Amino acid sequence: MPLTGQSSSEFAPRRLALPGGRTLTIRPSSRADTDALRQMYASLDDDDLYRRFFQAHLPTAETIGRILNADERGGMGLVAVLEGLDGTVRIIGETSYELLPDGGAELGITVAPGSRGWLGPYLLDALIEAARARNITNLQADILVENRRMLALMRARGYATMNHFEGPSIVRVVIGTLGSTPPWPGTHRAARVLVETPGGRWHGEAAARAAGFDVLICSGPPTHRHCPALAGQPCPLASAADIVVDAVSPDTSAGRALLDAHRRFHVGVPVCVEFPPGVTTTGGQSELGPNSDDTAVVALLQRLTLPSGPP
Ligand SMILES: CC(C)(COP(=O)(O)OP(=O)(O)OC[C@H]1O[C@@H](n2cnc3c(N)ncnc32)[C@H](O)[C@@H]1OP(=O)(O)O)[C@@H](O)C(=O)NCCC(=O)NCCS
Repeated sequence: MPLTGQSSSEFAPRRLALPGGRTLTIRPSSRADTDALRQMYASLDDDDLYRRFFQAHLPTAETIGRILNADERGGMGLVAVLEGLDGTVRIIGETSYELLPDGGAELGITVAPGSRGWLGPYLLDALIEAARARNITNLQADILVENRRMLALMRARGYATMNHFEGPSIVRVVIGTLGSTPPWPGTHRAARVLVETPGGRWHGEAAARAAGFDVLICSGPPTHRHCPALAGQPCPLASAADIVVDAVSPDTSAGRALLDAHRRFHVGVPVCVEFPPGVTTTGGQSELGPNSDDTAVVALLQRLTLPSGPP
């Protein structure tokens, strides 16, 4: 296996000196990595295989081939190669993305068990940088809700939730390559509803989507550690939304600061406040209560997004 890959990608390999005289190289993957990558996958337990491939057995030769030649379809693949003092060379991590029809890309990542705790963030940041250099502004991933490491990795990069799927429970998230908050994926065909809610789950999500709205969910502060609005800057999601549903309790300092930021930075974007149980609403026209049913949610969204409501 060559230490420096033969891929045509312009990603410049990075070398890091590690304790014990070892060297780590991050470089584009190539077909020559097939056996070494298979060996790394063989070191995973069933849970890891399931988290990475949604099936508890080793990936087929075809799947490994697709990961390694993502660049042939406009995507990108990187491997982390560890070289020991004795000259042994092995792959200890891989990450890649495939282009999506919506203009973004879908990523996958694996780190060998013995190298976790530091390599995942380093490898993912290298992929984000490579995507940014190719003008890809968002990277998406389907993640099992039980995969707390992967969710934490994406959360640290400010993810927003695009969708939830059941059986198994999977969440589709998106991160941006240009800053701490992603841009809206895809074109602006449907009215966009940005929901800010702790925990990233919103009871009106399915109904709003069924009514034709494009829904993105941000966990808001403090989960979104680098919330631009709270740092005194416009939020790319709120700026390009047709409506913001703010379910961060207005009784908290973060909730109040968020509402204030919307007023200052996102002028013209209607904000609908959803009050949590126990908080008295003011009876305003743009409010949802904790017991608002799907019909009330959709009616309010439609009223506030007119005339740009769903087709
Ligand atoms: C997901 C994966 C790539 C992450 O790489 P890693 O080197 O383990 O990353 P880290 O150790 O830095 O962990 C990532 C985050 O999870 C946190 N974390 C670690 N163990 C955790 C646990 N048991 N529960 C919750 N969070 C945890 C870390 O603190 C870190 O969060 P931080 O950035 O806020 O500090 C790696 O664990 C892996 O290969 N898993 C199996 C394959 C997989 O799940 N791939 C993703 C498919 S979409």
